[in-house]
Amino acid sequence: MPSMRALVIDDEPDIRELLEITLSRMSLDVDAAANIAEAKQYLETCEYNICLTDMKLPDGNGIDLVRHVQKHFPSLPIAVITAHGNMDTAIEAMKAGAFDFVSKPIDLPSLRKLVDTAITTGQLPNTSESSIKIIGDSPQIEKLKKAIQKLARSQAPIYISGESGSGKELVARSIHELGPRNSSPFIAVNCGAIPKELMESEFFGHKKGSFTGASQDKQGLFQAAEGGTLFLDEVADLPLEMQVKLLRAIQEKAVRPIGAPSEIATNVRILCATHKNLEQLVNDGNFRQDLFYRLNVIQLNVPALRDRKEDIPQLIGALLTRIAHNCELEKPGIDSAAQKKLIEYSYPGNIRELENILERAFTLCDDDVIQESDLQLNRSASPPAPRDNGKQSSHFNASINHASIDDYLAEVEREIICETLEQTRWNKTLAAKKLGISFRSLRYRLAKLGLDDSDD
Ligand SMILES: Nc1ncnc2c1ncn2[C@@H]1O[C@H](COP(=O)(O)OP(=O)(O)OP(=O)(O)O)[C@@H](O)[C@H]1O
Ligand SMILES: [Mg+2]
Repeated sequence: MPSMRALVIDDEPDIRELLEITLSRMSLDVDAAANIAEAKQYLETCEYNICLTDMKLPDGNGIDLVRHVQKHFPSLPIAVITAHGNMDTAIEAMKAGAFDFVSKPIDLPSLRKLVDTAITTGQLPNTSESSIKIIGDSPQIEKLKKAIQKLARSQAPIYISGESGSGKELVARSIHELGPRNSSPFIAVNCGAIPKELMESEFFGHKKGSFTGASQDKQGLFQAAEGGTLFLDEVADLPLEMQVKLLRAIQEKAVRPIGAPSEIATNVRILCATHKNLEQLVNDGNFRQDLFYRLNVIQLNVPALRDRKEDIPQLIGALLTRIAHNCELEKPGIDSAAQKKLIEYSYPGNIRELENILERAFTLCDDDVIQESDLQLNRSASPPAPRDNGKQSSHFNASINHASIDDYLAEVEREIICETLEQTRWNKTLAAKKLGISFRSLRYRLAKLGLDDSDD
């Protein structure tokens, strides 16, 4: 392996020495500069794999150097060293393009992790945009894909905003998959779905016997995501008490399981999302300003489907391929009037709604061609999509619980189908007739419910 080279910039000789020794022990060749001018000279003459800079330097500010590196050496990961507790500077540096920060006094294990991450990042294959599984080539989506590629290499927290069903989780997964943490877990947690009393234990874990019912040690989500990414979905639904604890965990990069004597260090990248207007919730006092500030170091907005209608035909094609593939049937065609209607529709539920419309049309259509009448757009008509103003319409409130309603409906569907199949001794043609649905529709539902046992 070719040797790796690091550039450290600090005006204090002691710290320069500490960094030189630590990084040399990690088999890196190290150059050390005492000010920005010297650092710029080194950058001109050598190629580096990582750059680590102090903030206050005799001839300027570390952030200026971050900007310089961003501009002239965009693929060089640069991290900053901040005074203890000075998160503002750390956040400012990450906004300017620093991939991470380490605070003084320098904790050597954290420093080593940071350097490892930087080196792994440098060795990531240069991904092409086509490796991102986000479908669409509208200017908005192209811009989003570019941002994802860039942000995947940073460690900065990202707040992903966007309407319900627009693809926020897909964006979070893509950031994880394209980044240096992709061989560690991606853990998604729906903050609105955890009962309040269990939240602390879910996030941080607990020790056996720490409360009634804690019959054994339990790992929290932070530990489960160690080395990887923790995606806080529906982050707006976090109760205020939990927001304080989360803030602390993010700030200290450490968590304390309930009943544990001490904190444990964590190395987790935090991404979060909500379809609610977080700024508005902060203004109304329902979300802590300080937590928002730390989560929202970088904001990515996922555009609504109605604002990028040119992506609809491509999405229809890809979604139909996926739906047909899932139940091992031929991909259906789509009639031009139906396609036109789909392009005109406003999608308050965005891509998830398009998916649902297509799934339903797929089970309804005859002769493998989806017609306008199969779309049943009136049935799925929803109130106009709310502009994100913090006040959610009933449609959006309902969608918060969609997972449990979907589960419930799937359960009912499963029971009815199983009962009918038992009555017909698993004669599917007969069962479909009894249920008043087409054979194709029954096969589709069986596949969806995981009941597909054979090809007949
Ligand atoms: N650009 C896209 N290309 C292909 N599939 C997409 C795209 N965007 C979203 N999807 C699909 O649409 C569905 C909804 O996406 P996702 O769950 O990421 O949305 P969300 O914004 O997190 O929604 P919610 O606010 O309801 O949680 C998923 O099945 C996802 O795979
Ligand atoms: Mg989601």
